[in-house]
Amino acid sequence: MGSVFGNKVKISVFGESHGTGIGVVIDGLPSGERIDMEELYAQMSRRAPGGDKTATPRKEPDKPQILSGMIDDVTTGAPLAAVIYNTNTRSQDYGNVMSSPRPGHSDYAAHIRYSGYNDIRGGGHFSGRLTANIVFAGAVARQILKRRGIEIAGHIYSIGNVSDAPFDPVGIPQELIDRLNHEKFTLVDETKEQLMRDEVEKVRIKGDSIGGVVECIIQGMPAGIGEPMFFGVENVISSVVFGVPAVKGIEFGSGFMGSRMTGSMNNDEFYYDGDTVKTVTNNHGGILGGITSGMPIVFRAAIKPTPSISIQQNTVDLQSGEDTVLTVHGRHDPCIVPRAVPVIESAAALAVINML
Ligand SMILES: Cc1cc2nc3c(=O)[nH]c(=O)nc-3n(C[C@H](O)[C@H](O)[C@H](O)COP(=O)(O)O)c2cc1C
Repeated sequence: MGSVFGNKVKISVFGESHGTGIGVVIDGLPSGERIDMEELYAQMSRRAPGGDKTATPRKEPDKPQILSGMIDDVTTGAPLAAVIYNTNTRSQDYGNVMSSPRPGHSDYAAHIRYSGYNDIRGGGHFSGRLTANIVFAGAVARQILKRRGIEIAGHIYSIGNVSDAPFDPVGIPQELIDRLNHEKFTLVDETKEQLMRDEVEKVRIKGDSIGGVVECIIQGMPAGIGEPMFFGVENVISSVVFGVPAVKGIEFGSGFMGSRMTGSMNNDEFYYDGDTVKTVTNNHGGILGGITSGMPIVFRAAIKPTPSISIQQNTVDLQSGEDTVLTVHGRHDPCIVPRAVPVIESAAALAVINML
């Protein structure tokens, strides 16, 4: 598998949804960095399931146990290892999935790739639960980055056909970053919350699911970072963001909309703000030629609808070699998007800490 990322700050993610536990080892962190554990737990609880009808009713505290790399909440420079034990598993829900792959999930492709030896219970290593590791590592990285003037925020850009107000791409105020970083249903325009919840509820009661888009901004990035052609800023961010299950697309700046603009509309004109070169607009999303321009990095990730739905679907029985039907049991988010926000922010943090 390829569950290791990074060359400067390297993360190695392990575990399966219904095994003993999941965890992450972070190698290459600077020593002497104090980590505010309450803040770290706050980030993890933004991703954790439970207590919300948009999310799975599987309730787990997601409390990481630190095995090494920190003394009294300060990094030692040794690999930082954290484990989260699985306490709330119901593997019997996956009995029928063992031989009948869920449409839209990793079951079939993983069965072929790992010759049927992969742990399929709860999605195994492909489960959304594994993203708790990304949030743990990302929360550590974010605190280190924040000390160096770099902050990251995300929000639910859309669910189904309901959209939030977009980020101002030339920069968002500190108060908004602070508010968004501590919300579970993360919105710029909080009046959209009920409309989005209604959108999710409409599909949930039918046993169906719905997707959406997460928007993320990285502020305070110095200009001149990035290693094009293949390790440019877009390459590196995309590579971690696509490590998040259910991400099916990413766009930077004006993205796909930019492809419909003229050059004069899409180009961002430069000006001096004191000694700093800035752009009036930010259709380039803070990246030119794979290198940071010093403007905020803005990107959006498309999240597909949760594949596990309780509506009956056609599939195949890999044991009998016949077509069959499947009704997925178990506890699944009818909409992954709210919980994906802190995961995408964390993925961005891990990409950035490696590029600096
Ligand atoms: C936070 C989070 C929670 C998820 N929860 C579920 C879930 O409850 N049920 C499910 O079928 N998929 C869930 N997924 C998505 C699957 O893990 C993912 O669709 C699957 O591994 C296939 O990968 P792909 O969609 O990237 O192709 C979740 C993803 C994330 C990021």
